[in-house]
Order: sequence, then structure tokens, then C-alpha cells
Amino acid sequence: MKNTIGKVTSIISNLVAVQVDGPVAQNEICMIECEDTKLMAEVIKIVGSKAYTQVFESTRGLKIGSHVEFQGHMLELTLGPGLLSRNFDGLQNDLEKMDGVFLKRGEYTQPLDTEKTWHFIPTAKEGDTVEAASWLGEVKEGWLPHRIMVPFKSKGSYTLKWLAGIGDYTINDHIATIVDSDGNEEKLTMSQKWPVKVAITAYDNKPRPFKIMETGVRAIDTFNPIAEGGTGFIPGPFGAGKTVLQHGISKQAEADVIIIAACGERANEVVEIFTEFPHLEDPRSGRKLMERTTIICNTSNMPVAAREASVYTGMTIAEYYRSMGLKVLLLADSTSRWAQALREMSNRLEELPGADAFPMDLPAIISNYYARAGFVYLNNGQTGSITFLGTVSPAGGNLKEPVTEATKKTARCFYALAQSRADSKRYPAIDPVDSYSKYLEYPEIVEYLDERIEKGWVEKVYKGKTVVQRGKEVNDQINILGDDGVPVEFHDRFWKSELIDFVILQQDAFDKIDANCPLERQKFMYNKILDICDMTFDFKNFEECATFYKRIINICKQMNYSEYESEEYDRYVGELAEAIEERKVA
Ligand SMILES: Nc1ncnc2c1ncn2[C@@H]1O[C@H](COP(=O)(O)OP(=O)(O)O)[C@@H](O)[C@H]1O
Ligand SMILES: [Mg+2]
Repeated sequence: MKNTIGKVTSIISNLVAVQVDGPVAQNEICMIECEDTKLMAEVIKIVGSKAYTQVFESTRGLKIGSHVEFQGHMLELTLGPGLLSRNFDGLQNDLEKMDGVFLKRGEYTQPLDTEKTWHFIPTAKEGDTVEAASWLGEVKEGWLPHRIMVPFKSKGSYTLKWLAGIGDYTINDHIATIVDSDGNEEKLTMSQKWPVKVAITAYDNKPRPFKIMETGVRAIDTFNPIAEGGTGFIPGPFGAGKTVLQHGISKQAEADVIIIAACGERANEVVEIFTEFPHLEDPRSGRKLMERTTIICNTSNMPVAAREASVYTGMTIAEYYRSMGLKVLLLADSTSRWAQALREMSNRLEELPGADAFPMDLPAIISNYYARAGFVYLNNGQTGSITFLGTVSPAGGNLKEPVTEATKKTARCFYALAQSRADSKRYPAIDPVDSYSKYLEYPEIVEYLDERIEKGWVEKVYKGKTVVQRGKEVNDQINILGDDGVPVEFHDRFWKSELIDFVILQQDAFDKIDANCPLERQKFMYNKILDICDMTFDFKNFEECATFYKRIINICKQMNYSEYESEEYDRYVGELAEAIEERKVA
């Protein structure tokens, strides 16, 4: 079939209108001739025989009347072994094949290595009935089993007519033949294509998340845990620590695969991950972290239109690995930059604007995106998950702006970074009062934590939150009435909340030991701190009270910096017990 062609009729920055001679589809990709190259663009609106397209690159030099050729498909990714340890841009161009992080305009690279061979081990049998996403065999990608699957586009069931034996194959070698019920044969390779804006739903079902994903960050795991297959977001003003927190989580989280979508943030931050990640060790496997990581990068100096592509590319790669039965952690920094790209396009299209000139359907776009995360049961009974954590950068830290509000409606965890905490170096700056995890309300999660940590754990979490909340209230009173103007018990209450803050909530992301706090260790420390919160001490005045708690906090912080259960650690445990004994009355 002949592809539709067209001619450029208007150019407003990256929005290019095209008069077409035949059918085009929403989100279809087209190539626009410009000087001596071709620019990739996506159809974002169709009115009669006019297609409005967003060009993923600079349209400098583009002329009215330029020839356009439609491709008959949406923006697609090539999925196959070799996606990990790689840096792509939002259009899946390999950034390492480029000079630096920047592509020349109109240059598109081969996303996957077509010459490398992979050692394939068949796991299905000829004669098996298979369907989309059925596992046919596996290759080792790093140390992960990378399942070779029936393409997600396949419809209905097929018979596996032929399957390659053990051997080394490239991603384009023929490795299987499937036959549908009408006898039509299809030859399969180790790679397949999939449109990024369409969710991959080749699984059996997606239950509510019911277990937690350990991140090693106390303010998250202990106070507001995120579920495996859950969603969360980190809003915070510039410099509050969103990127540092996300990077910490990416290094430590209990996940098989990490996908980082760097979207519209400063290039030097992203270059930092590029240079840091290849040297980092995975605390769980002892291998290099980069072996299980893919970075999708679209920095603030790259074309704005490609930001959208980068968040969808990240999600699609995450879905691909989830279909292999893996736990995927997907991070996007920042989703506000993506929303701003949507706003620019919507304004150029002169659509009726919603709040703050964002598109009216922004909440729907955000919630459809978040809905692609989740824990799933695959058709073969195995499980896989995508846990998604995005950052939001609200202008001026205003949490009432549209992107934060829309995200709040859909994400289940809210980790609000407070400017005041960042200013006083209380890192991570997650506000203990405003932040929440809705998962603590799920009976499945409560039950899971009863088993995984200890019976009644969630009650303990709420108890700690109450201590923090009351400490904040009492602090306001002390500030008004003065240190001497309130009873010593008020100071005691305040310092108990400081104890939780300094020992549990604050954590040094740059200390080798403190950066990553395993759940067992979190449980031990949290229990110790809650015990202290339950005690009554004998203080003659507020100074004695402050001195006592400062000493306790200091000992506990030393514990946080020591190897768990080491001699040093145990010595501090002893010191803590002594300090408490001296003052305790009940
Ligand atoms: N957990 C932390 N521990 C110590 N310093 C931190 C921490 N989080 C943030 N910072 C400091 O704050 C700076 C800005 O953090 P960053 O994550 O880049 O902010 P954002 O992404 O919100 O703009 C960092 O360079 C670092 O100096
Ligand atoms: Mg940042």
C-alpha cells in the first residue's frame, strides 16, 4: 500500500501543519524533508485533510511546501536483548554512538546492536500453544534472564511450529515460526516493535499492589512505604533534593531493572548519572549497577517535543521487562517538564486552555500514564511489576499548581520535599506531616507488613507520625510562649519528635553506610526510638531535657553511621541504654 504524502502549509516553531493526500492516523509518524535531511514528526491533531504534527527536532530552515511522507505507524521502539546498560534519547537513538550527548539533526541511529550474538536457550517446545508475550526461550543480558517472547502485537493463539535450538543468534536471526488457526505462518526473531503510547497489556491480570518495595530510605520504607508495582511522586522546589533522592532510590531499590527517564532537566545532572552509574556497584548482586539500568535522556537543551517521547519510551521499556517476570523500577525526572512540553503544543494549536494554560486533558494524560505501572500476573502464572516514581517541579514550590494537583489524584504516594527542611539541611527533605502513602491503608499491605516486619507494624508507623505531628504543634507553642513559658513536658514532647526526625527521617545520602538502610535495620532502630518515645524522664528544666535528647540523638546518629551489628554498633547500643537508664523514671 502506498504511504500517504503531504506538503507543509504552516510552521509555528515545532508545530508543523501538513496538507495530506490520503488517510493519516492520530500519533502516526511522518518524515519531513528539510534542507538535506529528514525530520521525524508525530501527528497530534487531524482536521479534515490537514494534519498537525509536532516535530521532534529543530525546524530551523524548514520551508512551506516541503515534502512529507507518512510512515503508516506510530512512534515505535525496537524491543530486544541489549536495551540494558544503554543511554538512549526519547526516540531510542543510542547516545553513545554520538559525539557527546548531542545528535545532529535528522540523524537516527540503530537502537539495538544487530551484529552482536546472544546465547539463546529455548524454553518452549515445538507444538506448544502460544500467544502474545509467551516465553519462547532466554538469553543472558548481564546476569538477568532476558526472555524471548512472542511479539505483543500477535492476536489470539498460535501453535509453535519451529523453535531454534541452543545457539548464538543475532536479534534479527530467525528463531521461531508460529502458525495461527488459519494456517498462516509467521517467522519470529529476538526483537519486535511496539508503539510507545500504547500500553502493553499481554498479561493475565493486574491486582492491587500487596507488598512493599524496599528502597533503603527510612523516610519512605518506615514512614510512607511504596508498594511493589505502586506509584509515587516527589514534588519539590528547585534544589530541594528530588534528583538526589531519586538517584539514591535507583541505586538501592529492590528491583531487577532500573529505567531512568531524565526529562527536561539540566544536562549536567544527567551527565553526572552517565559518569557515576557505570562505576557503581549493585549492593544486591555485587555487579555493576549499569548492567541492569537503561537511561533515557532528554535534557533541557534538547528539543522540547521529544520530552513526551522520552517518558513514554521509558514506560514501554519498563513494560517489556515486566513481561519477562522482572521487577522494574521506573523513575522520571521531571514530569513537570513533560507537562510543559504538552502545554507549549496545546497553546500553539490554540486549543481551549485549562488551568495555567495546561491542556484541559492534562489530568487524564497523567493518570493514563501512571496507570501503566503496576504489579501483574502474567499469562504463565509468573509475576512482574513496574513501580513508578516521578518528580514534579512546581514553580515556586506551589503545590496547588495543575501538574502537582493532577498527579496527586493518581499517584498513591506523595513525598513532598519542603523548602524549609532543605534550608536547614534536614535531608531527605520529605515533609513528615504533609507526605503520605495510601498503601498504609490497604489491608493487603497491612497484612504483608505484619508478616514481613512484625505484627502491628502499621499501628507503630501511625504512632510515630502522631509523635511528629504533636511535636510540631508543641514547637509552635514554645515559639510563641518562650522556652520558660511552657511546662517541661512540652519540651519533652518536642524533643521526642526531633528524635524521630534526626534518627529515622534524616539520612545522609552521601555516607556509604547511612545511605542505604535495609528493612531489618530500620525495624530495629524504629522500635528503639518508639520505646524511648514511650518513656517518662526526670528533667528539672528544659535545658536538662534538651541536653539529654541531644546526647541520645548523637548516639543514635553514630549508630546510623556504623556497620549494622558490628562491635562499634553494639557499643553504641550499650551507651544508649546507659544514657536512658540515668534519666528514666518509667
Ligand atoms: N539527601 C541529601 N543529603 C545531602 N545533601 C543533599 C541531599 N539531597 C539533596 N542534597 C543537596 O541539595 C542539592 C540539590 O539537590 P537536587 O536533588 O539536585 O535538587 P532538585 O533535583 O530538587 O533540584 C544537592 O546537590 C545536595 O547538595
Ligand atoms: Mg533535579
